[in-house]
Amino acid sequence: MDFELKTMTAAQAAAEKCDVLVVLVGESMKGAKAGKAQDAVARLAATAVAAGDLDTKAGKLLHAYRAEGIAATRVVLAGVGDGSGKRVQSGVQAAMSALRGSKAKRLAILLPEGSGDAAVRAAVCGTADSSYVYVATKSKPEGRELERVIIGVADAAAHKPAFERARAAAAGIEFARELANLPPNHATPTRLGEEARKLSKAFKFGCEVLGPKEVEKIGMGSFMSVAKGSDEPLRFIVMRYEGAAKTDAPVVLVGKGITFDTGGISIKPAPEMDEMKFDMGGAASVLGTFRALAELRPRLNVVGLIPACENMPDGGAYKPGDILQSLSGQTIEVLNTDAEGRLILCDALTYAERFKPRAVVDIATLTGACVIALGAVRSGLFSSDDALADALLAAGDAALDPAWRMPLDDEYGEGLKSNFADVANVGGRAGGAITAAKFLHRFADKYPWAHLDIAGTAWKGGAGKSGTGRPVGLLLEYLLSQAEQGGAVAKKAKGTKR
Ligand code: BES
Ligand code: MN
Ligand code: ZN
Repeated sequence: MDFELKTMTAAQAAAEKCDVLVVLVGESMKGAKAGKAQDAVARLAATAVAAGDLDTKAGKLLHAYRAEGIAATRVVLAGVGDGSGKRVQSGVQAAMSALRGSKAKRLAILLPEGSGDAAVRAAVCGTADSSYVYVATKSKPEGRELERVIIGVADAAAHKPAFERARAAAAGIEFARELANLPPNHATPTRLGEEARKLSKAFKFGCEVLGPKEVEKIGMGSFMSVAKGSDEPLRFIVMRYEGAAKTDAPVVLVGKGITFDTGGISIKPAPEMDEMKFDMGGAASVLGTFRALAELRPRLNVVGLIPACENMPDGGAYKPGDILQSLSGQTIEVLNTDAEGRLILCDALTYAERFKPRAVVDIATLTGACVIALGAVRSGLFSSDDALADALLAAGDAALDPAWRMPLDDEYGEGLKSNFADVANVGGRAGGAITAAKFLHRFADKYPWAHLDIAGTAWKGGAGKSGTGRPVGLLLEYLLSQAEQGGAVAKKAKGTKR
């Protein structure tokens, strides 16, 4: 989809030739005098609000068809409450779902006067999100009608940087969604490796894809064990985006890439097992973030690590009771083969040490317990570093991709004791999202570390079953904020060139 940012008054919106004009109406319109408005769009909105026919609460709509003095075939007036990013997102979502099946190709969205960057971002991401249609494995690809979206604001130049960020974010989010939605017989570890390589060529960043032999040589015994029950060869993907001096310590992102999680020998029950194709949501979010990052090219170094494999039951599969030799040197007793995410992540976290990172953030659909704790609204955030946690929380809020900080007290790790190894891969059922994080923490003690449990946020189940592309928005916002801070410091210090 093509987005365009345009300076647009209400009068210009009335003259804009398009299939649908969406007019976002904030609560500040409540006092506006209908009689005073000169142009058809402002008059329509003011009259509707004054008559009480348009509620300015976010998500409320009023439709018009071939309205006099307006070039667009349809007009949708959409309430956006106080005009904040969150309300604009709801307004845009409501308008887009009302337009589903309308075959509109050209859409213009007029933002309320006085809208900030957050509203522009919400309009772009909200539109992209609500118009996404999965077609990759349909025999008749239908439903992807929208081609062009014009975002109308009072001063396009002032919002240009936010608009460019939003456009890149939307593309990264869509990339992650699409990859997550692919069926598990398509989105194999091999395919993830190919997608990473393709992205790295198109967007010019470094990429290495390692196979079973190389991973064995490195000594990732824990990761390798999870892959043993599958006929699909594992992949370890290493991506490097270099936007700053080589000596600048990178941020490392680690994404869980289980392309299908049956549970292994500790097999899962059948209902909803298909949703375990989304168990590579962390990996997809790292790939989507790299796509956006390499398009925006901020002054920052970022490494992306993705351990990818299937978790399958088979004669060769790893078993409860097995002791694994992790890359860190720690031995791990497997008590449940369904707690496989932490077993592939721990070796990637140890591998991350070699980059001498300024921070490491892992992203994983790690525990059903996190879904119980936080539902589908906020991702679980665990961190050994308060500054890193605060930066990630702020980024999540700004990107409308929020997280919630969870605890990491040592007592939560006590259930992971093993009689036969240094650590067991599961504790009890209580606090399951936290014990999982405590397990990872043992392998991430050499740098500031954060863990995002996205089990509840990476996809939606039910009738609208789909990947969400989360937390690409959060990650990108965090990285851009780091680049701004680091960039300013670097410039002052020695005028470092990009
Ligand atoms: N991929 C799952 C986590 C998951 C389950 C995410 C359901 C979303 C919905 C993970 O590999 C897993 O199976 N975790 C187990 C851990 C348990 C065995 C300690 C879980 O959460 O049940
Ligand atoms: Mn599992
Ligand atoms: Zn899993």
